[in-house]
Amino acid sequence: MNFTTVWAVQCQNLEDKDFLDQLKARLVRSETQRVLRFRKSSDAVRFALGRALLRSLIISKGANKQFSQKAAWQDIVIEEDISGGKPYLSNNAKAHLGHVADFNISHDGEWVVAGVTPNEPVGVDVAHVYCPENMSDVEYISEFNLQLSSEEKEYLYKHSQQKLADFYRIWTAKEAYTKALGTGVASIDLASISVHLPPINGCLYVSANWQVTHLLQVATGTLDEGRYVYAVAKHPSLPLEFRIANIGDITLD
Ligand SMILES: CC(C)(COP(=O)(O)OP(=O)(O)OC[C@H]1O[C@@H](n2cnc3c(N)ncnc32)[C@H](O)[C@@H]1OP(=O)(O)O)[C@@H](O)C(=O)NCCC(=O)NCCS
Repeated sequence: MNFTTVWAVQCQNLEDKDFLDQLKARLVRSETQRVLRFRKSSDAVRFALGRALLRSLIISKGANKQFSQKAAWQDIVIEEDISGGKPYLSNNAKAHLGHVADFNISHDGEWVVAGVTPNEPVGVDVAHVYCPENMSDVEYISEFNLQLSSEEKEYLYKHSQQKLADFYRIWTAKEAYTKALGTGVASIDLASISVHLPPINGCLYVSANWQVTHLLQVATGTLDEGRYVYAVAKHPSLPLEFRIANIGDITLD
C-alpha cells in the first residue's frame, strides 16, 4: 500500500558546530554552499538537518526496493529555481528514486519535518505555538484576520475551545496546502483558502475560492506536548504514516 510518509525530528543542538559539521557531510555541494550563507548557526543546522532527514527518509523508504544506501545518498540531488518555488528532485534523482514523486520540508524552532509521497504532491508545515506575553490569544489571532476566511473566523472566535491551538492548526494547514501546490503563502490570497474545523475522520478539508477541493486533505497534529503544531497536505488516497524520528536515525557517519 502506498503512503504519505512523514518524519519529524527534534533538535536541541542548534548551536553545536560539531553537529553542523557532521550534518554537512550528508549534503551535496550546492547545499554546503548554502550552509555557508546562513548568518545564524541555528538556521544552518535547521536547513542541513532538513535535507539530511529527507535523505534518511527516502533511503529508508527505498531500502526494500534494493537501492544501495551509498548510491542512493549521492543520487538524491535537490534542485531549486533561482526565482523561488518548490524544490524538486533532479531528473537523475527521479530516475534512481522511482518510489518518490514529491517531497517537502519544514522547520521551526527545535523541530524539523520532512515528507515524501510515491505519487501526488505533498506539503508539510511545522510551527511553534506562540503568543506574545503582552497579548491575549484573541488579540494575537486577530492580527491575522485578513488572512483568515469568514468560516475560519467564525469557528475560532465563536466555537473553538482552544483558540490558539486551533489557529495554529488552521495556519499550518494553509501553509502545508500552499506548499503542496508549490505556491507558498506569498503569492496567494490566504483568506480565499478556508480550512474546515473540526476535522472529519482526523483530516481537515480545505476549500479554495469557496469550492471544496477533493484533491488534497490536511492532517494535523501536535509535537512536544502541544508546544508545536504540524500539518501535512496530501492526497486522500495516501494514508499518513507519521513517525517521530531520533537524531540517531539520521546516518551521520
Ligand atoms: C517559502 C514558503 C514556501 C515556506 O516558508 P516558511 O513557512 O517560512 O518555512 P518552512 O520551514 O515551513 O519551509 C521551508 C522549506 O519549504 C520548501 N519550500 C521553499 N519554497 C517552497 C514552495 N514554493 N513550495 C513548497 N515548498 C517550498 C524548502 O524545502 C524550504 O526548506 P529548505 O530550503 O530548508 O529545504 C512560504 O511560506 C512562502 O511563500 N514564504 C514567503 C517568502 C517567499 O515567497 N520566498 C520565496 C521568494 S524567492
